[in-house]
Amino acid sequence: MTDNRPPTITLKGIKKTFGSFQALKQVDATILPGRISAFVGPNGAGKTTLFHILTGNLKPDAGTVKINNKNITGMEPWRIAELGVGKLFQDVRIFENMTVLENVVVALMKRKEENPLYAFTSLFKNKEIYNRYNDEAMHCLEYVGLESRSTTLGGELSFGQQKLLSIARLIAHKSSCLLLDEPTAALSPTMTKEMIKLIQRLISEKDISIALIEHNMTVVRELAFYTYFMHEGEIFCHGTQNCVLENPDVRELYMGLSGVTNEK
Ligand SMILES: Nc1ncnc2c1ncn2[C@@H]1O[C@H](COP(=O)(O)OP(=O)(O)OP(=O)(O)O)[C@@H](O)[C@H]1O
Ligand SMILES: [Mg+2]
Repeated sequence: MTDNRPPTITLKGIKKTFGSFQALKQVDATILPGRISAFVGPNGAGKTTLFHILTGNLKPDAGTVKINNKNITGMEPWRIAELGVGKLFQDVRIFENMTVLENVVVALMKRKEENPLYAFTSLFKNKEIYNRYNDEAMHCLEYVGLESRSTTLGGELSFGQQKLLSIARLIAHKSSCLLLDEPTAALSPTMTKEMIKLIQRLISEKDISIALIEHNMTVVRELAFYTYFMHEGEIFCHGTQNCVLENPDVRELYMGLSGVTNEK
């Protein structure tokens, strides 16, 4: 991260083809600074693909991605992460055989040290490294409400807690733009409420921008400042959530084509 202002991320003319299948046709979107932007749409619309392009995990066939005015198109994922973009993956990626605390300590370590093998061996060989990061790691865990699970192995947490742990790791990274791919999918109603509160706290207390992908429209209504509805690789419409979610065409497409978790 270069400064403390939340970044603006701009995607322009993004195209991505897998074989002969056009997953993204011509996508323009902006992740607004200090706000939550939501990407919704039926399964297979291209939402996750778009996030992968943003993080550098996939390269677009055409188009540009910019953080503020810096062109990051096609950069390596670790460089984009260094510029402050952090992602909660749809399938949640943590170190299952490390404790919850160690998972966060590893995220706090410098990128060179963060090579999982290096980090894992250093943690046990070098108590000094461990202590240096311990307090800050606990602070990150407190933020997401996982402090009482600090000595539990990551793999022993529930799926929802693993998502919280992933977010604690993004906080540790000091990511200034959080991309959250279905943060409430497969969570209990109680855990969903907790996640909503956590995301609200993050956007109001930290100088960050957030983009989230969601199928649960209740979550979108609670969180989104600006909403993009994607369909078959395109932005079908975008605007304030009422403007998008009340659009009769969107309702028909969504209800007709996806297993959306709708308003409860
Ligand atoms: N690596 C890949 N190779 C081939 N096809 C892919 C690949 N990644 C994604 N696709 C296809 O691209 C389309 C968009 O996938 P994507 O995962 O972006 O959808 P999504 O909007 O995130 O859907 P969901 O809501 O189900 O997560 C889908 O048809 C998917 O099968
Ligand atoms: Mg997806």
